[in-house]
Amino acid sequence: MAGVWGRRVVVGGWVGVLGLAVVAGWPVGASATAAPAGLDIARSNACLGCHAIDRKLVGPGFAQVAAKYKGDPQAQKRLEAKVRDGGSGVWGVIPMPAHPRMSDADIKTVVQWVLEGAPSK
Ligand code: HEC
Repeated sequence: MAGVWGRRVVVGGWVGVLGLAVVAGWPVGASATAAPAGLDIARSNACLGCHAIDRKLVGPGFAQVAAKYKGDPQAQKRLEAKVRDGGSGVWGVIPMPAHPRMSDADIKTVVQWVLEGAPSK
């Protein structure tokens, strides 16, 4: 009798542990993949040292940039060139530095992300 009860308890314990592992594992996995590629590129190229998402820092907030160019079919190309070559005069006198070492693919992705309003996921 005691033996049967003992096994039930052990089996129940394992199911409980597995269940917990699954529940605890979900949010970790989800947040690891949630950051968009554009945000990763912006982080790793120090864009966020001068740009915030929703307010002006040294440069305009990325959400402001998205609003300004909303519906402009030339914006993607124009802003890719601006990130690569730098420039000033659109938002003020402080120049945007050039980024000659960034790959075209990275520039394309980060500009696309900015024009989408720089979502955090
Ligand atoms: C040293 C500060 C600084 C850094 C670093 C920086 N920016 Fe800028 N950025 C600016 C400033 C200042 C402006 C406004 C330029 C202007 O008025 O024409 C600007 C403007 C922009 C614009 C709008 C351009 C326009 O013509 O409307 C985009 C898009 C942009 N930055 C993206 C980026 C990205 C992407 C990175 C990282 C690869 C980055 N910036 C890094 C300072 C910076």
